[in-house]
Formats: sequence, C-alpha cells, structure tokens
Amino acid sequence: MSQVTKAVIPAAGLGTRFLPYTKAVAKEMLPIVDKPALQLIVEEIVASDIREILIITGRNKQNIENHFDRVYELEHILEQTGKFDSLKIVNEITDMADIHYVRQKEARGLGHAILCARYFVGDAPFAVLLGDDVVYTGDGTPCLKQLLDCFEQKQKTILGVQRVDRDKVNKYGIVTAGRSEGRVHEVISLVEKPNVEEAPSNIAVLGRYVITPEIFTYLETQEPGAGGEIQLTDALMKMCRDHGMYAYEFEGKRYDIGDKLGYLEATVEYALRDPVLSDGFKAYLKKISSKL
Ligand code: UTP
Repeated sequence: MSQVTKAVIPAAGLGTRFLPYTKAVAKEMLPIVDKPALQLIVEEIVASDIREILIITGRNKQNIENHFDRVYELEHILEQTGKFDSLKIVNEITDMADIHYVRQKEARGLGHAILCARYFVGDAPFAVLLGDDVVYTGDGTPCLKQLLDCFEQKQKTILGVQRVDRDKVNKYGIVTAGRSEGRVHEVISLVEKPNVEEAPSNIAVLGRYVITPEIFTYLETQEPGAGGEIQLTDALMKMCRDHGMYAYEFEGKRYDIGDKLGYLEATVEYALRDPVLSDGFKAYLKKISSKL
C-alpha cells in the first residue's frame, strides 16, 4: 500500500485578481490576521503528518523563502531583549518542516506548475494544496488528513470537493459523480469552469488533492486549455478515464484568498476566532454594521 510522504504547494501564479498588491508581493503571503496564508497551509500539511514540502515559486516570490528561513539578527535581538514568546513563534516557523523550492519560470498554468514538481515527487502518490486556498477545520481533522485517510482506503487519486452555489459553478472544476458512499463519490468526469446552465453538478474541486504519479505522463503532453493555460483539470480528466478516481467531500470552511471578497471573509472570520482580538473586534463590527 502506497504512503503519501510529500506535499506540493503551487504558489507561482500571477495573482491578477489581486493587483496591484501582487505586482511585487506573492498573494500567498497575504496576512490572515498575523500569519501569511501560506503558513496556514504549511501548518495543515504538518498537522496531517507530512514533513516534506515543495513550494512552486516564481518571480516576486522571494519573501516566501525568507519567511521559512532563519533570521539570525531578529532571533538575537528577541533573545537579548527577553522576548521569548516572540522568539518561539519565529523559531517554530523555521523548524516546522523540510521545505524545498523550485521556480516555475513562466506562469503557464496550474498543470504546468505541478509538472515542475516531477523530480521532487518521484514515483509515489503526493498531496497538492493550492497556495491561495485556506481551509479552517478548528479542532476537527485537518482537510488534507481527511483526503489522506480516504486515499489509504481507495489507493486512487482523491479530489477534495465541496458543494457550491449553483450560480458559482463557472468558477471551479466541476465533477460528474457516479456511485457515492457517504462523503466519497466515484468521479465519472471533470470539467473546468462550465457554464452555469451546462454544469453536470455543483460538486466543485476546491484546492486539495492526493494524486498518483501517473499524472505526470498526462501533464507532459497536455495542450493549453481554458485561458491558454495548461490546466490540471484537463490532465486529471484523461487520467480519470484510464485509472479512475474519487472525490471526497471534506469538512471545513474553505476560503479563496486569491479573490478579494474571499480574502476579506477569511480575515474577518479568523479575527473573530482569535481569543485576544475576538471581543474588541466583535464590538467594532457590531458598531459599524448598525450604520450599513
Ligand atoms: P489561480 O488560478 O487561483 O492563481 O491558481 P492565479 O493564476 O495566480 O490567479 P489569478 O486568476 O491571476 O488571480 C491556483 C494556485 O495555483 C498557482 C497559484 O499561485 C495559486 O496558488 N499557480 C497558478 C501556479 O503556481 N502557476 C501557474 O502558472 C498558475
């Protein structure tokens, strides 16, 4: 039985929905209260018992590598001034996992980004977590761990899905589901961003995958699709025909932080969950909402 020991985070996209911020800074480094979104994703991976992580980066993404690296000067000052709580926070980030980087030289699409992970992954199943999708599960099972548990049973590619509003299906990869057992659906087919009228269902692929290594054979020959980009969904669709795959309806609240509204929702809801900020922030929201 194959074990999943590696995770890949594609974070090399241009982030055009978040311009001008993304002109010089990675959207994956947007703060959700006090942590970059990417750190929340790395924490989810570590909480799912995976320690080897590859981040696919691009131009303007150097701050990603800096965030997970040592900053001796800062550590020294925090130690000298007795700020041990802050020092602990800084050190935990560096010690969290074994993080590798590869640069996608051109943002040619998510499928192309995953192909850049080929040599890191080798011939084993691997996890993929999109760098702009954050999933909150609180004290529950981390989203990736839910998918890994499903993979352990099925030993086939698992897509993390949730049902979305019918009028939003044109923003996602949408699954045609076959037989279902509880949260697990057999995948018959997949379509990237279908028209609302033509969508086969409202079961949307939301930024979490466990993928078997055959995907690289399909990605190698994948022609550009929607938006002129090499789409992961197109390669998955072909692989589904030949090898079969499953969709798992994960539990948790997912935020698309690459979208301005999604980012604002994440920021507000994480702040409301923060034990230190919660009361003051709630009072402020109540005050301004009465004027809306
Ligand atoms: P998105 O489609 O959400 O990212 O890709 P984008 O292309 O940066 O977004 P917009 O539409 O221009 O605003 C999902 C994830 O895949 C990564 C992104 O960084 C994001 O985390 N990605 C996308 C790559 O790594 N490389 C690419 O060529 C495209």
